Amino acid sequence: MNTRRSIIIVATVAGILMLVFGCDPAAMLGVKTAGLPTQPSSVAAGRRVVNFNRDWRFAKGGQLGAEAANFDDSAWEAVYLPHDWAISGPFNPRENGYAGKLPWRDVGWYRKTFKLNKADKGRRVYLDFDGVMAFPKVYVNGQLAGEWDYGYMSFRVDATPYVKFGGTNVVAVRVDTRRHGTRWYPGAGIYRKVTMTICEPVHIVHWGTFVTTMHVSNATATVNVRSTIENHLDSESKVTVEVVLFDPDDHPVATGEKSVTVPAGSSRELEQWLVVMGPQRWDIASPKLYAAKILVRMGDKVVDTDMTSFGIRTFKFTANDGFHLNGRRVQLYGVNLHHDHGPLGAAFYTRAMERQLEIMRDMGVNAIRTSHNPPAPELLDLCDRMGLVVWDECFDKWDTTADRLMGKPPLEEHGEKQIRNLVLRDRNHPCVVVWSIGNEINNQPHDREGKTPERVKFMSDFVRKYDPTRPVGMACCFPNTADQPILDALDLTGWNYGRRYAQYRERYPNNPIIYGESASALSTRGFYELPLPERKTQYSKKLQVNSYDRNSARWSDIPDLEFQLMETDSFVAGEFVWTGFDYLGEPTPFTQQARSSYFGIVDLCGIPKDRFYLYRSHWRPDVTTVHILPHWNWPDRIGKNVPVYVYTNGDSAELFLNGKSLGRREKKDEAYKPTNLAQGKPVKASSEESKKGNTSALANDGNNDTRWCAADGSANQWWQVDLGQAQPIRYLDIDFEEYARDYLYHIMVSTDGSTWDTIVTKNDWADDGRQMAYEVSAQARYVRIEFTKLQQGTWASIREFGVYPEKVESAYYAITYKYRLRWNDVVYEPGELKAVAYKDGKEIGQAIMRTAGEPAAIRLTPDREQLSATGEDLCYILVEAVDDKGTFCPLADNLIHFKVDGPADIAGVGNGNPLSLEPFQANSRKLFYGKAMLILRTTERQGGRVRVTAESDGLTTTDITVQCLVPSPPR
Ligand code: GAL
Repeated sequence: MNTRRSIIIVATVAGILMLVFGCDPAAMLGVKTAGLPTQPSSVAAGRRVVNFNRDWRFAKGGQLGAEAANFDDSAWEAVYLPHDWAISGPFNPRENGYAGKLPWRDVGWYRKTFKLNKADKGRRVYLDFDGVMAFPKVYVNGQLAGEWDYGYMSFRVDATPYVKFGGTNVVAVRVDTRRHGTRWYPGAGIYRKVTMTICEPVHIVHWGTFVTTMHVSNATATVNVRSTIENHLDSESKVTVEVVLFDPDDHPVATGEKSVTVPAGSSRELEQWLVVMGPQRWDIASPKLYAAKILVRMGDKVVDTDMTSFGIRTFKFTANDGFHLNGRRVQLYGVNLHHDHGPLGAAFYTRAMERQLEIMRDMGVNAIRTSHNPPAPELLDLCDRMGLVVWDECFDKWDTTADRLMGKPPLEEHGEKQIRNLVLRDRNHPCVVVWSIGNEINNQPHDREGKTPERVKFMSDFVRKYDPTRPVGMACCFPNTADQPILDALDLTGWNYGRRYAQYRERYPNNPIIYGESASALSTRGFYELPLPERKTQYSKKLQVNSYDRNSARWSDIPDLEFQLMETDSFVAGEFVWTGFDYLGEPTPFTQQARSSYFGIVDLCGIPKDRFYLYRSHWRPDVTTVHILPHWNWPDRIGKNVPVYVYTNGDSAELFLNGKSLGRREKKDEAYKPTNLAQGKPVKASSEESKKGNTSALANDGNNDTRWCAADGSANQWWQVDLGQAQPIRYLDIDFEEYARDYLYHIMVSTDGSTWDTIVTKNDWADDGRQMAYEVSAQARYVRIEFTKLQQGTWASIREFGVYPEKVESAYYAITYKYRLRWNDVVYEPGELKAVAYKDGKEIGQAIMRTAGEPAAIRLTPDREQLSATGEDLCYILVEAVDDKGTFCPLADNLIHFKVDGPADIAGVGNGNPLSLEPFQANSRKLFYGKAMLILRTTERQGGRVRVTAESDGLTTTDITVQCLVPSPPR
């Protein structure tokens, strides 16, 4: 391996600023890509970057005087970073689950001693924190050296005035999460890496290199490199800044040089233009990375060196044809990712992130939204390297979730400060294609945290001040925002859920639109329950969500509907599903009882749910996916119905049960349309909103996009249909305009239109969705719905009113026939289910699901067998129960005990159960629907074999071995 290549790998993976000269970092790291340490210590001419993650001490609580250099911290816990003090628990079962039920709200202290060489006297010493939750105050030798006021943001502390060269120094960090507001689990402590940079008094400022590419053609690209040099000397300094660009194969391809005089105590920016011939594009398909090396000389001496990778690519978001990358339309198959890593909490490990992205990419993901805050910088390094585009988001709301309380600090000040750091830090990453200034911010005029035209404008302008090259956006959810000039200052908008962008598109026909959050579908891995949910908001009483993929949040939809929407609305750049992974907190719909979400396409440990295969089959049409659900262990349903779904990229499949064909099914646009007795029949209503054309006949026209709406918001409005003659009515399926939780109503029937019987009374305000269905038993000609009470601001309004002679599946699920293959009437018998999938008449693959016997043994499957002994590399070991034939046992819940021999420890355990209050840091775990995950962490500089043994009462013990390789030390 040649040295330049290695430099790029380090620069790409470990951060844009740090690199190793004069040694082979890949050799140093032992393993080429996977499991790289988050930050190797490195030395470049003029600059030394030291990994500051080791040897900290930590204590929770006030700790009076803990900032003092001589404070006695010997009784404190020894920890190393990244560290999240709350993830070890314990859970508080009584607490609401919105923030994970974990003890993150507290004060905590960290202390570390370090030495500085006498020879470094006169140099600058900076401490760089990638993320501290929250309100960190950094003391150096007892003095406050710096502080920060946003828990997700990277910041630098200048320790120079406070350090002793040639002596021992103490850094103490006070962390206080009590004022931090959140809608999910935030974590607590120094949860991302820390580095110390020692450099000459004349150097490139932090994040002071800005590379942009323009005039990109197949023949050439112009590269603009801006460097800001800062001079801490007492006299002015003349410096020469030399730039060398390297192509993706490490060949120097362009150089430039320019001089500038930097006055004492000041800084100067200079820019250079370089031309690259025959540029190789950074693209999703092949993410080619260039590197820029910047050398700062004073006379003959190199006083500083910086390195950044960058990409040459063109992109644009269009109003009518989505997203274009390097001249072609690319549909964004995106996911939202929250910042936590399940059992590891907020603690950031590069390998954990890399694995998340690998799993997402396998599903077809090509875009990530960092909901709703700045990610660890390594996420962007990984996306650069893996070819994923990124929506880089600064804030959720502009309130306590942005660490602002009661409007303080003023948004104008706080916003610029945080946006500045985000944009300066991330602007060289080719993966970043949108800057987002927030998510679903209120637009109440008097809300001091809410958005107004002025606020959106100055926040957008802050972004443009630091990077004029990328669009500024925001994720929106209130359609009527578009009726006011609030969003004028944005280049594009993301819209969350449904077709909420419709009004915006009318007002801003020339602005691009992204589907910022789609789906919010819900499921629990491995949990199936019959009968099937009849409505998307019909949830199980067991506090788990059915994995037949028929449930979503009230405000959102099953994945199939979103697929369809992206096909019809091709002007939208693509969707970002809420969410790729389950995350800690926000356990809709069981917010009180559970501690982690059900939204993920994969569970909290990264184990795919069924939905993973639904997305994969749609997003990767050319890769074979054949997936059967549910499991085939239903001892109580022998002879009874168990519906079977197959997710495949094929267009059809044949299903066999114990060798007998259950028929071949094809994906079809209109496979299912129940006969609605009401459709097209004469209607009457108490009033109609005729100025908008929402007439009564639109509630039974067979089209859910049109509706009847009453003329005003008063109660006692009604709508009625005449079926023509009295007939049996067994089922009603109603799609309201608004959430049904906002209405109370009765439904009445009559044979003569004058005597009415009430067959449905809705008299609670339960949190319910748009669509409601009722099994009824009536013989009638007229059906009438009468609204009795409405929440303020809600008008009586119906999209579609369905009346059926028998119980039918709701028309809501008709769309599933287009994207899934369904065998609804399978009669269960144990044995073997086999699906054979076809595309264009040719067999493309098969899947088999077998009934398992009793659990007999444990199966351990590591994600990698060779690890790097960096102390930060991880191995994810899937733990499963199997029967005596090796068949996976889908209902097993055995408690498994783990033993680790060798140079690694357990970083966490988990099983994807959102209700589990078992600790994440433990050496045992119950299986959840047959599976659990063990996460091993290597030990710094200790190589050798690690044996992992798994034991459980009544099961055969199993062990596996993985290998830890010691990275060679820097020479
Ligand atoms: C959105 C919100 C997300 C998450 C999601 C759940 O409205 O932006 O942060 O709460 O709903 O469906």
